[in-house]
Amino acid sequence: MAVIENSKLSVIGAGSVGASLVYASLIRESANQVALYDIAAEKVEAEVLDLAHGTQFTRSSVSGGSDLDVVADSHVVVITAGAKQQPGQSRMELAGTNVGILERLLPQLLERAPDAIYVLVTNPVDVLTVAARQISGLPAERVIGSGTVLDTSRLRWLLAKRAGVLTSSVHADIVGEHGDTEFPLWSNARIGPVPILDWTAGERFSIDELDGIAHEVRNAAYTVIRGKGATNYAIGLSGARIVEALLDDERAVLPVSTVHSGALGLDGIALSMPSVVGGNGAFPIAETPISETEAGLLAASGDAIRATMQTLGL
Ligand code: 2OP
Repeated sequence: MAVIENSKLSVIGAGSVGASLVYASLIRESANQVALYDIAAEKVEAEVLDLAHGTQFTRSSVSGGSDLDVVADSHVVVITAGAKQQPGQSRMELAGTNVGILERLLPQLLERAPDAIYVLVTNPVDVLTVAARQISGLPAERVIGSGTVLDTSRLRWLLAKRAGVLTSSVHADIVGEHGDTEFPLWSNARIGPVPILDWTAGERFSIDELDGIAHEVRNAAYTVIRGKGATNYAIGLSGARIVEALLDDERAVLPVSTVHSGALGLDGIALSMPSVVGGNGAFPIAETPISETEAGLLAASGDAIRATMQTLGL
């Protein structure tokens, strides 16, 4: 799929995440057309109306409703529908309910948008990415999850704030499960050309400080959910960023979640590693250098995801 002139994005679920992702997509002009679907007619019609009222200020159009036909001929479909974490609840506890929603929704979406690339956002996103791949039968590169793109943005913001540099000059990724076992790839984290552990402009990063930053990233969602009941803005922006890379055939490197085969002993498991994201979908970069310690952490992340998959018979 090359760059699409009249690109169409559909977002499934008009909750705070879905609505924020549509809003971010309109502002960033991620797609020419954006459609929003939800089973709750009054809610989705109000969200679409509120978004449409602002489209004078953007070059994208927005439509939607409670009829699944609104997703017809989409190039990218982002799925945000499902139960969301309650304060203190882990993402994995949502698996059974949300896989059930996927089993009902996905076949109907595929009928209407058979050529789309599907992006899972609903949690636990890695488990749902595996489920969606199995339900749809689509190739792994066309059924991906937002994964740790959001966590990586959190990490880069924290590192940039501490180092006093522009966030886009921080090159560091969170990989693995989008959840409690995620971790930073410190071994190839850099600020500009400088490896993070060699950063001396100002104060060096101590190992304890980096551990503290990783802990803060891993617990960011719990912190925000405790305060406002949900996270939505940063995941909305993260989703819009992934959509752009797909629709504009960017071949951008983003840590999205994909179902792995063979490499790293993760056969059939979905988790995030730096991947090339473009018009044909997402392809994990097999040559990503990881240390022995990081390989162990990745295996532990895979085990956590596999354990939940097994409870669901995936
Ligand atoms: C987040 O990390 C809840 O997965 C969502 O913000």
